[in-house]
Amino acid sequence: MGEKPFGIVASPPLRFLVRKQKYDPATTAGDFTHALFRVKKGDTLYVRGPYGAQAPEPAVTNIMILSGGSGLALVPRLVQHFTVLGHIVKVFHGVRNKKEAAYRDLIEDYAPYTVVPDAGKPGRVLDVLEEALEKVDVSNCAFYTVGPDRLMEDALELAVRKGCDPRNCFASLETNTMCGIGVCGECECGGILSCKMGTFYDHTFLKAHYFNDDHGETQ
Ligand SMILES: Cc1cc2nc3c(=O)[nH]c(=O)nc-3n(C[C@H](O)[C@H](O)[C@H](O)COP(=O)(O)OP(=O)(O)OC[C@H]3O[C@@H](n4cnc5c(N)ncnc54)[C@H](O)[C@@H]3O)c2cc1C
Ligand code: FES
Repeated sequence: MGEKPFGIVASPPLRFLVRKQKYDPATTAGDFTHALFRVKKGDTLYVRGPYGAQAPEPAVTNIMILSGGSGLALVPRLVQHFTVLGHIVKVFHGVRNKKEAAYRDLIEDYAPYTVVPDAGKPGRVLDVLEEALEKVDVSNCAFYTVGPDRLMEDALELAVRKGCDPRNCFASLETNTMCGIGVCGECECGGILSCKMGTFYDHTFLKAHYFNDDHGETQ
C-alpha cells in the first residue's frame, strides 16, 4: 500500500487516531486509510519514525490548546509534555458530533478537556475559546492549535486579537510528507523542512509563509 504520515497519540503501546478518507476506486484517492481500516489482528504493519521536533515551549505559564477533527491525535502528548514541565494547560476540541471525541482519558488526567460539538455552527469551538481567553491573563498565555487549516487560521487570529503574543501562538501544519527524513523537500514551508523542524510554527512565520499562500483547504 505504500506509506502515509500520522501523528502518534501515545506510546507505548503505539496508538494512532486515523480519519478514514473517502475512497474513490477511479483515482484510488483514500486507498491507504481505506486499507488501514481493513487490517485484522495478526496482520503486519510497518512503522517508521518518529520524525519532526518537539513543539516549542513558551516562556509563559498558561497554555491553551484548540484541536479539531483528527488534529486531536497530537493533543495527548502535547498536554502531557507541557504539564510535566509545569504549565497549566486547558484543551478545547471541536467536533462535528460528540462521538468523535476519542482518547478522553489520555487528556483528562492532565488538563481540563472541553469537547465542543458544532451543533449547527461549524467552528463553534472558537466561541468557547474566545470566552476562555477573556478569563485569563493573556500576557501569560500561549496558544497551540491542531486541525483543519481554516480552523487553525481563525483560532490563531482570535488568540492574537485577544492579546496573546504572536510569538507564543503556534499551529501544527500537515504539509505533504514523503521521505520524512529531510531528503525530498516535499514538506518544505518557508524554507523549513517540517519533517525535521515541524510540525509547529508560530503565528508570525505562518502569516508570512503559509496562511497567505494558495495552500488550499485541508481535512
Ligand atoms: C505530518 C502529518 C501528520 C498527519 N497526522 C494524521 C493523523 O494523526 N491522523 C489522520 O487521520 N491523518 C493524519 N494526517 C493526514 C493523513 O496522512 C492523510 O489523511 C492520509 O495521507 C490519507 O491517505 P489516503 O491514501 O487514505 O488518502 P489520499 O489519497 O492521500 O487522500 C484522500 C483525500 O484526502 C485528502 N488529504 C490527504 N491528506 C490530507 C491532509 N493532510 N489533510 C487534509 N486532507 C488530506 C486528499 O487531498 C484527498 O482528497 C497527517 C498528515 C501529515 C502530513
Ligand atoms: S518529507 Fe522529505 S524532506 Fe521532509
